[in-house]
Formats: sequence, C-alpha cells, structure tokens
Amino acid sequence: MIILNQSKRNPSNIQPSEITPREVFEHRRSFLKAAGFALAAGSALLLSGKTLAAEKVAFKAGTGQKINGYSKTAYGAGEQLTPYKDITTYNNYYEFGTGKSDPAIEAVLFKPRPWTISIEGHVKKAKSISIEDLLKLAPLEERIYRMRCVEGWSMVIPWVGLPLASLVKWADPTGNAKYIEFISANDSLTMPGVRSPILDWPYTEGLRMDEAINPLTLLAVGLYGEYLPNQNGAPVRLVTPWKYGFKGAKAIVKIRFVEKMPLTTWVKAGPNEYGFYANVNPNVDHPRWSQSSEKPIGRGLFADRIKTKMFNGYSEQVGQMYAGLDLNKNF
Ligand code: MTE
Repeated sequence: MIILNQSKRNPSNIQPSEITPREVFEHRRSFLKAAGFALAAGSALLLSGKTLAAEKVAFKAGTGQKINGYSKTAYGAGEQLTPYKDITTYNNYYEFGTGKSDPAIEAVLFKPRPWTISIEGHVKKAKSISIEDLLKLAPLEERIYRMRCVEGWSMVIPWVGLPLASLVKWADPTGNAKYIEFISANDSLTMPGVRSPILDWPYTEGLRMDEAINPLTLLAVGLYGEYLPNQNGAPVRLVTPWKYGFKGAKAIVKIRFVEKMPLTTWVKAGPNEYGFYANVNPNVDHPRWSQSSEKPIGRGLFADRIKTKMFNGYSEQVGQMYAGLDLNKNF
C-alpha cells in the first residue's frame, strides 16, 4: 500500500488512484464493471445451484430467535412483503464475497454476540454501548420499508429496530458534529471477503446529522420478527429507505461523529458512480444503467419491472432536507 503523508493531505481531495497501487485500483475498476454486468444478468442468478445451497444454509443458520416485545407500526402497512427466503439469500455483503448467495453460505461462522459499538469523535465523552443496552434505548418497532438497491432491484422488508435518533441522543454529540460515520466489522478470521482488496476495508458509510436523526432512519436488529441473520447485517445495521441500499452499513462496530463529510467506501471505489447522498432518484441515471425502474425481488423471473419513485416514495418525509441542493450534482 502507498502510505500518504497524512499531515499534508486533505482526505476529501484524494483520488482513489492515489490511495491504492495502480494494479489494485485497476482491478477494482474491472471488478466494478463485472458487478454491473452481474446485475445486467439479473435474476437469472436466482436459479443457480449455489443459490439453492444458500437457501438451505440460510434456513439452518437463520437465527430463528424471535424478538419479544416489539410493536407493529403503520409504516408500509398493506405492502406486499418480499419473502424471507429472498431477503436472506439474495444479499450484498462483500465481506463474505461478491456473489448474491455468498453471504448466506459464508457468514455462518460470524459471531454477532458479544457485541459492542464504540462511539467516538465529537461527543461530550467517548464511550461504548453493548448490543443489550442498545436494545433498551428505545422501544423496538416493526417498520415495513421499501428498499431499493443501486443495482436496480428492490425488496419490501419488515425490519425490527429502533430510531437512530435515540442512539444519537444517548451519544450526546457536541455542536461540531455535522456528520456521522458508520464503520462495519472487519474481521479477517470470519469474513473471507476482507482478505482481498476489492473494497477499502472496513466498510464505511455516512449520514448528515439531519438525515441521521430523521424519524425514518432506523438501526435494524431484526426482520420478520426475528433477530437479523448474519447475512443481513447482524447484530445491527443501518436502514435509510429513501437512499440506495449501499448506505445501509451492516454489522456496525463504530460510530464516529465528525465535522466534515466522510469519505465513504463506495465513493472511494467509484466517485463518478456512487455519491455520498445516494438518494434514490429515477431522474439521475447511474453512468452505466438507468435508474428509472426496478425489479422487485421474489415475484418470479418474469415479474414486471416497476417505476422507481423519487426518494423511493418517501419524498414527504425526507424531501425537505434537500431543498436547495442540486440533486444532479449531489447524487
Ligand atoms: N454493509 C457492509 N458492511 N458490507 C457490504 O458489502 N453492502 C451494501 C449494504 N450494506 C454492504 C453493506 C449494499 S450494496 C446493499 S444493497 C445492502 O447492504 C444489502 O442489504 P441486504 O443484503 O440485507 O439486502
């Protein structure tokens, strides 16, 4: 790896080609192209033998542990849910491989307990919180959210979780905290994907402070009334339904309150293709494909694509946060 002279460099000006050796950078570009190609091949993947194997493993490994004492909410009432089988076997989680069925198979050794999240940066006092204490910060709720992946597919998922706002309040940030950075687990023993430089590990995502405390923003700990399966981000992951799915960092180990917009994993990997905001926007195409429609997962190979909505249909709840922001530039 090329070591940068940190004192002279502003991280937001660093180009991906400067951070990594050229061959790794080029490999990453071709990997990103391949990822796009895999997407174009679309749900043919769903029929592969590997996916069937993943389903078997997922059912065995699925925690099956019921969450007691969460309340149902009106969010997404009446929506047609994506089946559990699809939510837990068609995943993006590059720490466990780049194939959609890899996480269900490869994440079986991952241990989501014991777990603590460390809280750092612009807070009155740096501290950490165990998953058990996190679960007590606010009443757990079930919220059915539409989720849209940047690759052009979508799911409707009954998440169980608590508002991120309740953790932000507990963390007690100072006035300098303008953004929050979410950092995922990076354990080469149990996460085979992090042994290769396909992304700049650990997986890092970020939100502006107003986005973080928006009532829609959830820290999910479960789905379909059970604790999260490993492949979906156990024990805790971020859910921002008006943004493309890559915002939803899984297996969060660190939350850092920062002053400047963080340089996130996908922005580093492809700044022209993936933006910090990542708001679902049918009017701003990905450079390699249209974002105007999406394939609903779990309705069969020949299900019609559906029209993608601005902010994934959550304009009323979040649109105001972006008033005055050019969404073509701030994609
Ligand atoms: N979080 C981590 N740590 N690693 C990842 O590779 N993939 C992201 C996001 N969170 C990813 C991640 C992407 S691209 C998507 S679309 C969603 O997780 C997928 O979540 P799901 O597999 O639960 O549907």
